[in-house]
Amino acid sequence: MKILIVYFTQTKNTEKVATGIYEELLTHGHEVHIEKIEGITPGILEDYSIIFMGSACHDADLAQPVKQFLEGIPHSPPYKMAGFVTHSTFTGEGGNRERELYDQWAGKCIKSFNQVSQEKNLDFLGYFHCRGSPTPEIADFVHRVILTDEDEWNQYKDEVAKHPDEEDIQRAKEFADTVLLEFRRLTA
Ligand SMILES: Cc1cc2nc3c(=O)[nH]c(=O)nc-3n(C[C@H](O)[C@H](O)[C@H](O)COP(=O)(O)O)c2cc1C
Repeated sequence: MKILIVYFTQTKNTEKVATGIYEELLTHGHEVHIEKIEGITPGILEDYSIIFMGSACHDADLAQPVKQFLEGIPHSPPYKMAGFVTHSTFTGEGGNRERELYDQWAGKCIKSFNQVSQEKNLDFLGYFHCRGSPTPEIADFVHRVILTDEDEWNQYKDEVAKHPDEEDIQRAKEFADTVLLEFRRLTA
C-alpha cells in the first residue's frame, strides 16, 4: 500500500511526530513517503491509499496552510485520511481545567478534520494529538493570557518544554497502527 505523510511545521515538533509515524509504517512493509506541505501538489495525492495529514495548532485550529490544503481536496477522493496535531496547551487528559483549556486552545483541530471529511465525503481514519514545546513568543502569550497564576505557569512551562517526548512518539506509532487497522476494516 502507498501511504503519504504530509505535515506543516515551523519548529519541528510536528515533524518529530511525522517521523515517528513514518518509521512505524515502514515496519509494516508499506511504501511510505513523507513530505512537508510546501512540497506537495494536490494531484499526487491520488496515487496514495492513505494520507496522514499533520499540523501545528495555530490560533486554536489547524494551521492556515493545512486548512487551505484540505479545502483543495476534491469530493469523494480515492484516498482515506488520518490527522495529527501538536499544540502547546494541555492534552485534556488531566482535570476539568486542563480539559477546558484543551477544548478552547486546541480542540477545534479535530473538528476541522471532521468537518472536511463530512463535506468532502472523505473517510477519516483517526486523529492523534500531543503537546509540542512552544516558541518563547507563544510561551509568553500563554503566561500573559492563559496561565496567569504563577504556580500553574511554572508547572506548565517546565513540562511542555519536554514535548513531543519519547512517550508521545510511541503513542504516535500506536496511532499509526490503529489507522492501518481501521483502513483494513473499512476496505475488507
Ligand atoms: C502563530 C502560532 C499560534 C499558535 N497558537 C496555538 C494555539 O492556539 N493553541 C496551542 O495549543 N498552541 C498554539 N501554538 C503552539 C504550537 O501549536 C506548538 O508549539 C506546536 O507544537 C508547533 O509545531 P511545530 O514545531 O511543528 O511548528 C501556536 C504557535 C504559533 C507559532
